[in-house]
Amino acid sequence: MPCLFSLAPVLSRCMLSWPGSGGGQRLHSMKAIEMKIIVIGASGDIGGVVCAELSERHDIIKVGRDSGDIHADIADPASIKAMYRKAGKVDAVISAVGSVHFGPLSEFTQEQFMLGLNNKVMGQVNVVLAGLSQLNDGGSFTLTSGVLDRDPIRMGAGAATANGALGGFVVGAAIEMPRGLRINVVSPGLLEVSVERYGAWFPGHVPVSSRHVGLAYAKSVEGAITGQVIIVE
Ligand SMILES: NC(=O)c1ccc[n+]([C@@H]2O[C@H](COP(=O)([O-])OP(=O)(O)OC[C@H]3O[C@@H](n4cnc5c(N)ncnc54)[C@H](OP(=O)(O)O)[C@@H]3O)[C@@H](O)[C@H]2O)c1
Repeated sequence: MPCLFSLAPVLSRCMLSWPGSGGGQRLHSMKAIEMKIIVIGASGDIGGVVCAELSERHDIIKVGRDSGDIHADIADPASIKAMYRKAGKVDAVISAVGSVHFGPLSEFTQEQFMLGLNNKVMGQVNVVLAGLSQLNDGGSFTLTSGVLDRDPIRMGAGAATANGALGGFVVGAAIEMPRGLRINVVSPGLLEVSVERYGAWFPGHVPVSSRHVGLAYAKSVEGAITGQVIIVE
C-alpha cells in the first residue's frame, strides 16, 4: 500500500480501501509513530495511568523530585531547565503535578492561595516556557488541572482558582505556539485510583475511569487538538 505522506512526529497515514466497499470509499489508516515523551509526576496517580497508556507506543522519560529517570522540581525554574538539558530534544511534555492548599475559605490566607498559583500554575507554566525551544517541530505540551473549578467541593477554593488559571493559560498560549507546537490541559474528576486517598473530600462525585484519564492524555499527545481543556468525567 503506497504511503501518501508522513507527518512526524504525529502519525503516518496510508490510503486504504474500505473493506467490502469495492474501492468506492477510501480511508486513511493511522499508525502512531514512536515519540520521546517527558512525563513529570510519572510516579503519581495520574502519572501512573498516563505511563500505562503511552509507554507501549512511546519512549517515556519519567520525572519527579525524588522518583523517575530524571529528578526535577517544577517549583524551581533552574531545575526545570536542567531537566530539559538532561532529556535533550523531545516530542511531547506531560505535566501531571501541582500542589494546592485545601482549607475553609474563611481561613484561607494569601500565602495559601499563592501555593496553588506558584506551584500548580506557575510551575506548569514554567515547564512550558522553558520547553518552547526543547520540543521538536509539531510537538505538544499537556498540563493537568482538575474538576474543582466546575464542580466544587468544600475547602477547594485554592484548587479551583489554580485550575481555572491553567485553563486560561492554554487558551492564550495556544495561539502563539511556534513551529506547530500544541498545548492542552487535561481536567479530570477524582480518579478511581485516588478514591482511597481523597474520596471523603468529594461527596457525591462519581470517580472517573483511570483508563479514560489515560486516553485523554493520549488524545492531547497523539491527536491534533490545541488550546483545549480536555474534561474527563
Ligand atoms: N488524583 C486525582 O484524582 C486528581 C484528579 C484531578 C486533578 N488532579 C491533579 O493532578 C495533579 C497530580 O495529582 P496526583 O494525584 O497524580 O498526585 P500524586 O499521586 O501525589 O503524584 C504526584 C507526582 O508528582 C511528583 N511531584 C510532586 N511535586 C513535584 C514537583 N514540585 N516537581 C516535580 N515532580 C513533583 C511526585 O513525585 P516525587 O515525590 O518524586 O516528586 C509524584 O510523581 C495534582 O495537581 C492534582 O491536583 C488529581
